Amino acid sequence: MASVTAYHVKITIFSFDTLDSTNAEALKQARTGADEGVCIIARRQTAGRGRHGRRWVSEKDAGLYFSIILRPRIEMRFLPLITLMAGVAVHDTLGSVGIEADIKWVNDLLVNEKKIGGILAETAETDTGIAVVVGIGINLAIADLPDEIAAIATSVESETGSVPDREKFIGSLTASLSTRYGQLSAPNGPELIRSEWIKRSSYGYGKNVRVSTGTEIVTGITDGIEENGALCIRKPDGTIVAIHAGDVQKLRA
Ligand code: BTN
Repeated sequence: MASVTAYHVKITIFSFDTLDSTNAEALKQARTGADEGVCIIARRQTAGRGRHGRRWVSEKDAGLYFSIILRPRIEMRFLPLITLMAGVAVHDTLGSVGIEADIKWVNDLLVNEKKIGGILAETAETDTGIAVVVGIGINLAIADLPDEIAAIATSVESETGSVPDREKFIGSLTASLSTRYGQLSAPNGPELIRSEWIKRSSYGYGKNVRVSTGTEIVTGITDGIEENGALCIRKPDGTIVAIHAGDVQKLRA
């Protein structure tokens, strides 16, 4: 019987003590030809960035600040699924240290509704085609955070009582990313990643939410994920809208 070997990305890690942003460094390296699988890690970021231009507080060793360069061969319409793929990989990595996380569309890793990690995917046009940098921030240790962030954030240490071994944790994350990215790149990959994401998220179906897209506010009940990763919301009048970008907030049931 013929066997098909799943694609596995070759991981190469470059570690830094301090960077402005691992995403910024990875984008720079991608533009100058760095291979898929190059990972940039810093112990501290001075200008860590989150979605929608927000700041990602990145105190020394309090978190994992990690970015990986991908050069996807999937159809362009499926590119947004890279964030969902990374969410599945981070979810499984947290599982490896005993944390059962939830994933809030599109990129928030939550424990008891507090944020433990986030993902920021950014793209760059390069001489060899489009590169996607997937930036992952995971709170590892209890840190001295500004009050407004401390109230809505948690960490691996807060949840398990200990800071995970950094090398092992990075090994687990890169292995999961390699596996899940390989799956996404396979012929039925987009469908598989969507279903793995749905299994790990309480936000896929039946959640009463309010979504702010930047241009409008949509409230309704979540009703699955479109083939390109957009979140479907059933509005009170029964119509369904697909959200391609926005901030989701859980409302009371
Ligand atoms: C978010 O939830 O808003 C996304 C946060 C992503 C933060 C990570 S930390 C590593 C990488 N480098 C950055 O500057 N941002 C991402």
